[in-house]
Amino acid sequence: MLMARQPQGFIKSPAEQAAMRTAGRLAAQVLDMIGPRVVPGITTGELDQICHDYIVGELNAIPAPLNYRGFPRSICTSVNHVVCHGIPGPRTLRTGDIVNLDITVIKDGFHGDTSRMFQVGACSIQARRLCRVAYQALWRGIGIVAPGRTLGDLGHAIQQFVESEGYSVVQEYCGHGIGRAFHEDPQVLHYGTPGSGMVIEPGMTFTIEPMVNAGRRQVKLLGDGWTVVTRDHSLSAQWEHTLLVTADGVEVLTLGADERAPS
Ligand code: MF3
Ligand code: CO
Ligand code: CO
Repeated sequence: MLMARQPQGFIKSPAEQAAMRTAGRLAAQVLDMIGPRVVPGITTGELDQICHDYIVGELNAIPAPLNYRGFPRSICTSVNHVVCHGIPGPRTLRTGDIVNLDITVIKDGFHGDTSRMFQVGACSIQARRLCRVAYQALWRGIGIVAPGRTLGDLGHAIQQFVESEGYSVVQEYCGHGIGRAFHEDPQVLHYGTPGSGMVIEPGMTFTIEPMVNAGRRQVKLLGDGWTVVTRDHSLSAQWEHTLLVTADGVEVLTLGADERAPS
């Protein structure tokens, strides 16, 4: 009898793909829920508490960040020059701040991971442009994803777009395979060389989550062991989707209720 060739570990079966769809949808629902609450005067700790209660109480899911490698809260809140992994706490959001809320839920053993930028009240033209370019960078990357393309094609498309807009791409943190584990192979770099890296195949699930800095790309890890900031204190923005590679393209598993692929 012929043995079927074992698919590599990061190719999801149809049942696993269905579970990933559910996890992705729930993660996006959390962002849809919290968006209207991101207003001047609220603290990042309050946003965390609201999301935690919703994930556990309404979605019957698990907030993946809580206790992940010692992370103390249920979501990440990254304000202004914080690049990623900001820890929710007493900080009050003020008019003009930009904040990334990064949500990862576990449902029936599978992870959905997504983040968006929120503008607190009226923001500067520069802050709005940075958030818009970071969003477009994510979708430039998504537009590349199809069987036969490589991860280098994807990273190159994002980097080339961001740099053409006069911004820089953070290199120390990347997208990632996702499934039963929060962070699986492969690493999905947001910079690179066309044609290099792993070939994208149907059934892969991974995130794209470019961090875009208004100034230089260099970052610094703060003493809390989590908070990543821009070295030059310039503003930083990030958006993230979880994706499933299909036979002829890509399915975005974490679309917002009002979101569709930009044309
Ligand atoms: N959600 C982040 C990502 O996109 C990871 C956060 S790890 C945590 O990969 F521990 F800070 F939650
Ligand atoms: Co992620
Ligand atoms: Co995330």
